[in-house]
Amino acid sequence: MRGNEIEQQNTEQQNETESFLLLGLEKGEKINEGNNGVIFQIDLKDFHPLTIKHVFPEITDEDLLAIKALKIYQHGAIEREADYQKRAYEANGGNTDPQSAKIPRPISCRELHIDLESLKSKLKKSGIANPEMVSVMLMDYVPGDDLATYFYKKLLAVIPSKKGMVDKENLDLLPFDQLEEDFCEALNLTVPTPEQKARGVDIIWIDKNNQEIIERKLEKYDIAFDPKIFDRLTRTLNKLHKAGLYHNDIHERNIKFILDEQGKLIDVYLIDFGLANERQEEGDSDFDTIHRYERLTLSKAEREKQKLEELKHSFKIARETFLKNPSNASDFRLYREDLKEVVESNNPKKVAEKIISILSFSGNNYDLVGGLLQPLFKENESLLIDSLRNVVSLSKLGRPQFWLDLIKFFRAKN
Ligand SMILES: Nc1ncnc2c1ncn2[C@@H]1O[C@H](COP(=O)(O)OP(=O)(O)O)[C@@H](O)[C@H]1O
Ligand SMILES: [Mg+2]
Repeated sequence: MRGNEIEQQNTEQQNETESFLLLGLEKGEKINEGNNGVIFQIDLKDFHPLTIKHVFPEITDEDLLAIKALKIYQHGAIEREADYQKRAYEANGGNTDPQSAKIPRPISCRELHIDLESLKSKLKKSGIANPEMVSVMLMDYVPGDDLATYFYKKLLAVIPSKKGMVDKENLDLLPFDQLEEDFCEALNLTVPTPEQKARGVDIIWIDKNNQEIIERKLEKYDIAFDPKIFDRLTRTLNKLHKAGLYHNDIHERNIKFILDEQGKLIDVYLIDFGLANERQEEGDSDFDTIHRYERLTLSKAEREKQKLEELKHSFKIARETFLKNPSNASDFRLYREDLKEVVESNNPKKVAEKIISILSFSGNNYDLVGGLLQPLFKENESLLIDSLRNVVSLSKLGRPQFWLDLIKFFRAKN
C-alpha cells in the first residue's frame, strides 16, 4: 500500500514536471540556436508560483531560465547531456568561485510527447525536425553574447561595408544566422554549403583561413579582451579535467560572457555539454580555442612572440604526425631535397612553384611545408621571402596569412 502511494506520488510529480516543461515550450520565446539545439527563454510569470514551488523547489523568483530543445530526437541524448552538465556544474563548485567560469545549472530534462498541434507547429518553425517527440532540458538562462556573436557585432560595427548591406544600428536585433551571413559577406569568408550545414559542420570556425582573417581583423581593430575571461575558463576546465570530465566542444559559440559598461568582465559561462565525455577527443584539446584568443589580451609585441612560438610548435607536431606513418619518410626526404635543389636555383618563382606543388602533394599540410622551409631560411632569407610573396600571388585559394606569418617568423629568427 505504502509503496503504491509513493509510486503514485512520483507519477503525479512526473506529470507536473512534464506539464511545466510543455508550458515552458508553449510560452517560451526562441532566443537562439546552434547546430543541435534551439534555446527558448522562459518567463516565470507564465507559471503559478505554487506550481513552481511544488515542482522545482530549487527555483527562486529571481531565477532566469531557459529550455534547450534538441533539433533531432535521439533517445537518451538529452539525459546524457544533462548528466554531464550536472557533473560539470558540481565539479565546478556550483558556480560559487568568483574566479571560475560559470556553468548553467541543469534543472530537469525530459523526452516529451507533443500532442498540441499549435505547439508542434511552433516547434517545427523554430527548427525542431520532428516535433512529435522532443528532448528538452530546463536550465539557467545565460545572459550575454557568445564569443562568435560578440565578434560579429563588434566587427560589423566598425568595418566598412558595401553601402546599405549591413544595418549597423540594429545589430543587436539580428538573429544569429543573419548576423553570421552579413559577417561572412563583409569579410569574404568561406561559408558552409547547405549539405555541410545539414551534416552539422560549423564550418566558418573550422576553416583555418576564416580563423586567420577574423583574428587579423580583431587585431587590426584592437578588439581586445579582459584576460579574466580566459583565466576563469581555464580554472573551470582544470577543475573538470581533475574530475575526469572533458567538454570536447569548446568553440566560439559555446562560451558566453557579460561585460559591464566599461567593457570589464562580469561573468563568463561555459555552455553546451552535448559532446562532453570522460575522454578527451583525439587531437583536440579543451584549451585550443582559449589559447587562440588569449593572444588578444596581450600587447602587440607579446602577441607576435606567442604566435611565433605556436607556429614553431605546429611545425614540430606536423612533422611528427607525418612521420608517424613510416611510408611517409621517403616523401619527406624527397620534399626536403627538392626544396634544397630549387633554392639553389636562386629563382623565387621556381621556388614558389615547388612550394605549391609540395603543398598539394602533402594534402595541403601547411605546417609540414613551413617546417621544411625553416632550416633553409638562414642563408637565403631574401630569396625565400620573395618566394613566399610569389606563393601568395600564385595560390589564390590558399591561406595568405599563413605565408605572411611565416615571413615574420623567419625574419624574427635571423
Ligand atoms: N542556457 C542558455 N541561455 C541563453 N542562451 C543560451 C543557453 N544555452 C545556449 N545558448 C545560446 O544558444 C546557442 C546554442 O546553444 P547550444 O547549447 O550551444 O546548442 P548546440 O548544441 O546546438 O550547439 C549558444 O551558442 C548560445 O548562444
Ligand atoms: Mg553549441
